[in-house]
Amino acid sequence: MRILGIETSCDETAAAVAELEDGKIRILSNIVSSQIEIHQIYGGVVPEVAAREHVLNIIPVVNEALLCCGRDRKSNVQKIDAIAVTKGPGLITSLMIGLESAKALALAWARPLVPVNHIEGHMAANFIGIGRITDVRYPAVALTVSGGHTMLVLSLEPGKYETVGETRDDAAGEAFDKAAKLMGIGYPGGPLVAGLARKAKPSKAQNGIVLPRPMLKDPSFDFSFSGLKTALRYALEKDTAWPDRIPEYCFEFQQAVVDVLVAKTIRAARHFSAKTVMLSGGVAANEALRSQLAEAAAREDYAFLLPDLQYTTDNAAMIAAAGCLKAGQEPVGPLSGLSADCSWEL
Ligand code: KG4
Ligand code: ZN
Repeated sequence: MRILGIETSCDETAAAVAELEDGKIRILSNIVSSQIEIHQIYGGVVPEVAAREHVLNIIPVVNEALLCCGRDRKSNVQKIDAIAVTKGPGLITSLMIGLESAKALALAWARPLVPVNHIEGHMAANFIGIGRITDVRYPAVALTVSGGHTMLVLSLEPGKYETVGETRDDAAGEAFDKAAKLMGIGYPGGPLVAGLARKAKPSKAQNGIVLPRPMLKDPSFDFSFSGLKTALRYALEKDTAWPDRIPEYCFEFQQAVVDVLVAKTIRAARHFSAKTVMLSGGVAANEALRSQLAEAAAREDYAFLLPDLQYTTDNAAMIAAAGCLKAGQEPVGPLSGLSADCSWEL
């Protein structure tokens, strides 16, 4: 079965085709048109600008994704069995472009439409290319960390999710972005902070720079990152030489975030007797987080799944993969009753 995935929840216009065969999910095409350069001027995503860009990009991006199936447009479409699309959460005007386009295609091609929760999509990235999806062992604890979300999700069985922890203020990716803004190093902050942290001199990495690990000792599975950003601001204000030590500040900031994410994820895995730990979302592109969570999971014998780098930040392959995981479920009711939901809960 082949599924066309469409994702427009923030500033990426994305379309992809996934194939579910022999219980395995394979990605046949994965097209992402990023608007980062446009939003960089403003230091963050401007929703109305994002929506206008989605309008311009959606058809070319979908067409390009369909080319995986051959050059003949009619046969491309014939091979698609269903369309999966992000219904929420996200920026409402951005979501609407993807969802309404998907509804139009579903109507024109007479194919079922599968609404996908963006967070469920991020988690589904863990199932791409891993072998048979039925081999994943449950319970699973999934950490999803992005620019808009930081969530610990418990999955007792395939397709069933319960949020057991989330951020009480800033998301982890948002914290990276705000830290980068404080240090004037650009947008989006995550990859820039990570790149600079790699340049930190080992002996100086923590040298005199100590940031808090917020809520590390708190028994809940919730997170809080806004205090960390404030602690960084105070530390910079006290240190007149901070511009010479940006790599060391980046290292310590990144390590503070990673320490909390890893500790809470493993604690949740223990608490819920998980067999599998998963990592997803834009911040899952962070090398320190990937390796340190992998090591921590291995120490306690949890199976560990993490997506290929290309499936961490927003993309439609993960939405198509989520569509594959939902294969066989009841189709949605009339398309006219389906609308984008900016705060759709998992
Ligand atoms: O999943 P995503 O593309 O969009 C949302 O759903 O929010 O995540 C984007 C976030 C941004 O905040 C970005 O700074 C962060 O992921 N990010 C990273 C890295 N790459 C992207 N954060 C830390 N380290 C990275 N390498
Ligand atoms: Zn996302």
